[in-house]
Formats: sequence, C-alpha cells, structure tokens
Amino acid sequence: MADDVAKPRHALELHRVVKSFGPVVALRSGSLVLDAGSIHALIGENGAGKSTLVKIIAGVYQRDAGEFLLDGEPVDFSSTAQSKAAGIAVIYQEPTLFPDLSVTENIFMGRQPRNRFGRIDRKAMRQEAVEIFDRLGVSIDPDRITDGLSIADQQLIEIAKAISLDARVLVMDEPTAALSGVEVERLFAVARSLRDEQRALVFISHRFDEVFDLCDTVTVMRDGSYVDTTAISETTVDDLVRQMVGRDVTELFPKLPAEVGDVLLEVDSLTRPGVFRDISFELRAGEIVGLAGLVGAGRSEVARAIFGVDAYQSGTVRLEGRVLPKGDPRLATVRGIALVPEDRRKQGLVLDDGVSRNITLAIRSKLAKWGLLWTGLENEAAKVWASRLEVKTAALDAEAGTLSGGNQQKVVLGKWLATEPRVLIVDEPTRGIDVGTKAEVHRLISQLAQQGIAILMISSELPEVLGMADRVLVMREGRLTGEFSREDATPEAVMYAATADVEVAR
Ligand SMILES: Nc1ncnc2c1ncn2[C@@H]1O[C@H](COP(=O)(O)OP(=O)(O)OP(=O)(O)O)[C@@H](O)[C@H]1O
Ligand SMILES: [Mg+2]
Repeated sequence: MADDVAKPRHALELHRVVKSFGPVVALRSGSLVLDAGSIHALIGENGAGKSTLVKIIAGVYQRDAGEFLLDGEPVDFSSTAQSKAAGIAVIYQEPTLFPDLSVTENIFMGRQPRNRFGRIDRKAMRQEAVEIFDRLGVSIDPDRITDGLSIADQQLIEIAKAISLDARVLVMDEPTAALSGVEVERLFAVARSLRDEQRALVFISHRFDEVFDLCDTVTVMRDGSYVDTTAISETTVDDLVRQMVGRDVTELFPKLPAEVGDVLLEVDSLTRPGVFRDISFELRAGEIVGLAGLVGAGRSEVARAIFGVDAYQSGTVRLEGRVLPKGDPRLATVRGIALVPEDRRKQGLVLDDGVSRNITLAIRSKLAKWGLLWTGLENEAAKVWASRLEVKTAALDAEAGTLSGGNQQKVVLGKWLATEPRVLIVDEPTRGIDVGTKAEVHRLISQLAQQGIAILMISSELPEVLGMADRVLVMREGRLTGEFSREDATPEAVMYAATADVEVAR
C-alpha cells in the first residue's frame, strides 16, 4: 500500500518491524500506517506488542529490523528527544510525570520557554498551561506538585504536554483506562479537534465502544505481529475480537449463581472530611457488590480507608463482627481483607522484582519455613496464580516491570488472591485487561464469590458493574447516592445517581 506513488505520503509508516529483548520477541512483525487527519486505533491482547511498537515510534527502543518512515522518508530515532523534535508525542500507558515538580513544570519539562533575559519564563509557561487546560475543559491547579494527583489528572497533564508540543503525530497508549464518563468525552472532543487540524492520532484501547466511537481506522495485532487494518465503518466488534484472540469470546460476564450468606464486612458512617462522608454498607459472603461512580467520587479512597492504607476520621469497620482498627493494612490482611489497588505500578508491584516474588509478596510469612523462603516454594505458589490468570511472561523470575501493562495488572490480582481473603476489594479489576482475559477475570471473581468470599468491586465500566454485581452502590462527591438490587440497577438509574444532573464539577 505504501508503494503507490500517486497517493499522498503517509504521515508515518512502520513495516515488518522486529524487536527482541534477549530471548523475548516482543515484536515479530509490527506494521502500522498513519495518515494525517485520521484517528487510528491499535488493538490487540495483553502482550500483543502495542506498547513496544509505540516505544519504537517514540525512540524509547530501537528496532532490530524493519522499516520506519516519516513523511515517506526513512528515520531512526536514537532517543525520545529526536522523536519529539520530529513532532511525535506519546502519552504512555502509565503516566511518567515527575512527582516533585509542579504541573506546569511537568508540561514544559526539558524545553522551558525563556524570556529576553535568558531566564526561564515562568509567567509564559503558566499562562500557556492555563490556556491548554481551558481548551481541555479541565481545572487542574498549574502550581501544585503532581504527586498525589489522580491517574485521570496525570493523564490529562500528559495530554496537555503533547498539545503544548504541537505534535503532528500523537500516540495515546490507553489514555482512557483511568478516565470515566465526562473525562472520556472531553478527551475525545480534544482528539477530534486535533484530527481536524490534520494531525495523525493513534489510540490504543481495550474498550471497543471507544474504538468505534472515536476512530476512523483500526489495526489489529496478535502475538507481536500485524494482523489486519480496516476502516472502522467496515468492521464489527465480533470481527475484531476474532482477529485479536483467534477465537470467539462468548460470555464476557460469566456470572455464576452464589449463595449469599452472613455479613462479613460492616462499614458504618465512615467519614474523612473533604474526601468521603457517612459511608455505610455491608458485604455478605458470596456477594459481589459493585461500587459505581465517576472517577474522583471517592470510591478508591473509601476502599483504601477500609483496608487501612489511608486514615479516616470517624466511623467503624467491622470484619466478621469484630472492629478492625484503622490504619493497619497488615492486620487487615491477616484478618482476611485484600485490596487490589487501582494504580498497579505505584501501589501493587515491585517492578524490579520477579513475577513470582511479586505474586508471593503478601504471603511470604506463610510460605517461609524456619525463617527461610525457598525460591522453589515461591515459584510453586506463584505458578498456580500465574497460570490461572494466564500471565504472559518469559519466565516466572522475569522482572515484573518488563511485562506488558495488562500482565502487570494480572500479577497484582494474583498477589492478593494468593492471600486467600474472606473479603476482597478490587479497584478497577479489568482496567487495561484485554477482552479474552477480562472474561477470565470476571469468571474468577464469580468463582471466588461462589466459594463464599465477599467482593466489593469498584469499576468505572458500567457494563462490568451491571454484568457482575448482585447489588450496586453508587458514590458521588464522597457520598453514597444510590443502592440498587441487581434487578433495579439499570444503566440510567446508576448513571443518574453517579452524576445527579449530569455535569459534575471536577
Ligand atoms: N523491556 C522489556 N523486556 C522484556 N520483555 C519486554 C519488554 N518490554 C516488553 N516486553 C515483552 O514484550 C511483549 C509485548 O509487550 P507490550 O507491552 O508491547 O504489549 P501490549 O500489547 O502493550 O500489552 P497491554 O495491552 O497489556 O499493554 C510482552 O510479552 C512483554 O512482556
Ligand atoms: Mg501496552
């Protein structure tokens, strides 16, 4: 397709690109052809090679073989600075901001505007940051440090950074994974206006609704190789799934019948001023309770307070009738609560430890005999969960940081499931997980409920909540604003409770 001289040049082309890391072949034959004025979806299972392809475009990695053309001319980027200079901006799957720097400093990192005295022009920087945020329709304080900002806000800062670079090629690697509702719509509006300015965009997502809503063209990858490129108008979800996984995925929400038993967790009037207030609910054995709401509604904060990693001011948490002292996650774990956090890179994983070590991290004391922990024992315990969750890794002792984003998420899930909890809190359990594995994770959650575990599932994906939950709780701005039985939990009812009159101030 690139050989047709009569056609205008493509903005960017990759053909049969190969990339290995030692024995691991991350890309066997990656191809992608981007055109100006178009939004191109790049999809594929966890570990298919999407992020690796993106990192080659960005100059993070250099390809071992294959062609890379920009405006029809061969290019080689030996650094990210070179790709930036060529007008390529990449928003990575995991935000890469400097936590101690301000929002504005992060946006202008490495290329601060100077005033006529040669000094960094802070006023100009701040002004431009404010303008970009206005255009994005978000209100983030440009002067605060980025540490402590939600993932959603961090992503928006990355996007602001790309916009300020005036990039002609903008790649977004799962930018919406941590956003919901209003934020996604806002991002899409920005993406569309960038397309109308004749930029070329790449959009990586595991959410088909978004791909169909936003994109013009789609390229599917499988096992490190290019599969197909189609116009969005000429394909269907079923076709794409088949190309991605090589089979049909029949049941995305395989909910099994479970017997609902005794109350295991009681949360009473939990309050942390400014964050959440008067949160009361119960979880019963065998029950899956969905906690819905917009990003920023305070759901993760409530989960973290229950588990003891965050403080709260008043209220009580009881586990099987006994008060659980606050602020003691170790005790919570011993008593049988597990929390699978939302931000896996920061809270869930030790990136330079091996996969097995990560999976067994929370059960080390149980595994150790006479104070010793044998690698064999560790691998044995880890293997069970790695295979149950289909963690795709070269070896069990491979560094967790080298796994694809979705596979890292599975490792965090495995780590907490290995503790065999009575109460399991999962925060966005399938964020960044591909469609095939999603169904597996759902089946697993359902099986755990069937075994009598009480599950609180925080999710911004409404279909997931409605598909899996026996009961749905809704939070908005730090308060519980709705509770629905499975039968009554319609998308409209839940969304209404989550947003009240739709537009919610951030
Ligand atoms: N630095 C690295 N060292 C070793 N292996 C790596 C490295 N980076 C990626 N890989 C491997 O290459 C494969 C492709 O990973 P990649 O991150 O590109 O997948 P992906 O399609 O982005 O998946 P996801 O949807 O989970 O984000 C995976 O098997 C991964 O473990
Ligand atoms: Mg990826």
